[in-house]
Amino acid sequence: KQLKPIPGPPGLPIVGNIFDMDLVTPLKTIEGFADQYGPIYTLKLGGRENLVLSSHELINEACDEKRFAKQVAGGLEQVRNGVGDGLFTGYTGEENWGVAHRILIPAFGPLSIRDMFDEMVDMANQLALKWARLPTGTAIDASDDFTRLTLDTIALCAMGGRFNSFYTEHQHPFVDAMVNFLIESGNRGRRLPAMNRIPTSASESYFKDIDFMKQVALDLLKERRENPTDKKDLLNAMINGKDPQTGKGLSDQSIVNNMITFLIAGHETTSGTLAFTMHNLLKNPSTYKKIQEEIDTVCGRGPISLEHLPKLKYTAAVLRETLRLSSPIPIINVRPHPFDNHEDPILLNGQYKVGKDQSMILLIKKMHQDPNIYGQDADEFKPERMLDEEFNKLPPNAWKPFGNGVRACIGRPFAWQEMLLVLAVLFQNFDFYMADSSYQLAIKQNLTIKPKDFYMKARLRHGMT
Ligand code: HEM
Repeated sequence: KQLKPIPGPPGLPIVGNIFDMDLVTPLKTIEGFADQYGPIYTLKLGGRENLVLSSHELINEACDEKRFAKQVAGGLEQVRNGVGDGLFTGYTGEENWGVAHRILIPAFGPLSIRDMFDEMVDMANQLALKWARLPTGTAIDASDDFTRLTLDTIALCAMGGRFNSFYTEHQHPFVDAMVNFLIESGNRGRRLPAMNRIPTSASESYFKDIDFMKQVALDLLKERRENPTDKKDLLNAMINGKDPQTGKGLSDQSIVNNMITFLIAGHETTSGTLAFTMHNLLKNPSTYKKIQEEIDTVCGRGPISLEHLPKLKYTAAVLRETLRLSSPIPIINVRPHPFDNHEDPILLNGQYKVGKDQSMILLIKKMHQDPNIYGQDADEFKPERMLDEEFNKLPPNAWKPFGNGVRACIGRPFAWQEMLLVLAVLFQNFDFYMADSSYQLAIKQNLTIKPKDFYMKARLRHGMT
């Protein structure tokens, strides 16, 4: 094959494409350029050139962990200001990432997650009770209430903290601090490094937000140290666990970094997925009817048990299809593996040249609509294509909402159990309607994406079960 030049928006000297970016929803610009320039293009941000990939063919190649590895760059690198070498932001090869990963893998495994079921039910019921008590016809801000639910669930199940978000009008102050921290991390990632050193009111509140999040985590850690339990949760795993490979444990600083990581990674994504799911179902009445029927048939009107969840096949397909079309983490970053002796030059698809330190943005959300994999109706919501039999036939790396390889999501079983349970509890108890039938999906972006200004109404189907 012949080497091919890689197209891209021209941009300006030094600052690159920063002025091309939509400041509120940068994803819009990145997707728009993919429509304009095709499945591989260059984008210059934060003083470096990125390659943006969006076809399955190219992303499949970039998912080869022997050749490429996660890159903590841009906004994610700035997130290290708050959570250092925690699991999400650890550099490839950084020692603490390995130690924390090996200590935490069993604590995130299916057996441990099953033990968290009763606490998840407690939280799902709190949400259902809140909606049951709302005056008839109240418009519910779906993203907002799902955020309450998922933040409280991860705090309780992972570290025994009661955030009690359903008892207050406003979100827990952790959410404000976190949202501002993530937005500003994103902004800092797009600026030139020198610009970030200038003290501004934004940077002052940025570091205040970080201190606040650390304090929340430290308080939970102190509380646990003063009141030890033998609960098998993530916090105890971090306090008591030893890495089987090195024998090392985690320092208090590492524990705090990871607690904040779990509080952030453990709720934004899950709440976004639940909100997108409700939106998709309400826009597609035939899928709504099917999920409702499945939950009625499998769960009836009694309490939901762990044994019900694997039987919710259509519900699982709805979640998979939602994660395909609206991946809450729409982008992951990789680079040529730093510890590998690469072929020279490094080539993608035998024809595109990649630098040794090249940043690569994998536009997962766009790849999920690649017609070569998902057909001409790739942009339509059709859960049937995600039922087990079809799903298992997908080519490798065609469905990647949970990321790649060793750096893929450690919280996937947690999120899956929580989401299935919540949908079961909600559909068992309520009929849902769009608050505004003309609503067109708009997106709010921090590090993750979720629906913006999406309101729905809930009406009890029978008394609460
Ligand atoms: C990593 C998605 C839920 C904790 C990731 C990554 C993705 C992802 C795409 C890889 C990021 C990258 O390559 O930079 C999701 C989605 C979720 C979800 C779609 C829900 C629907 C959760 C939950 C937790 C969690 C519930 C914690 C309880 C983490 C952590 C990592 C991670 C700690 C970093 C893993 C590592 O690099 O070692 N997640 N996640 N996630 N996720 Fe999730």
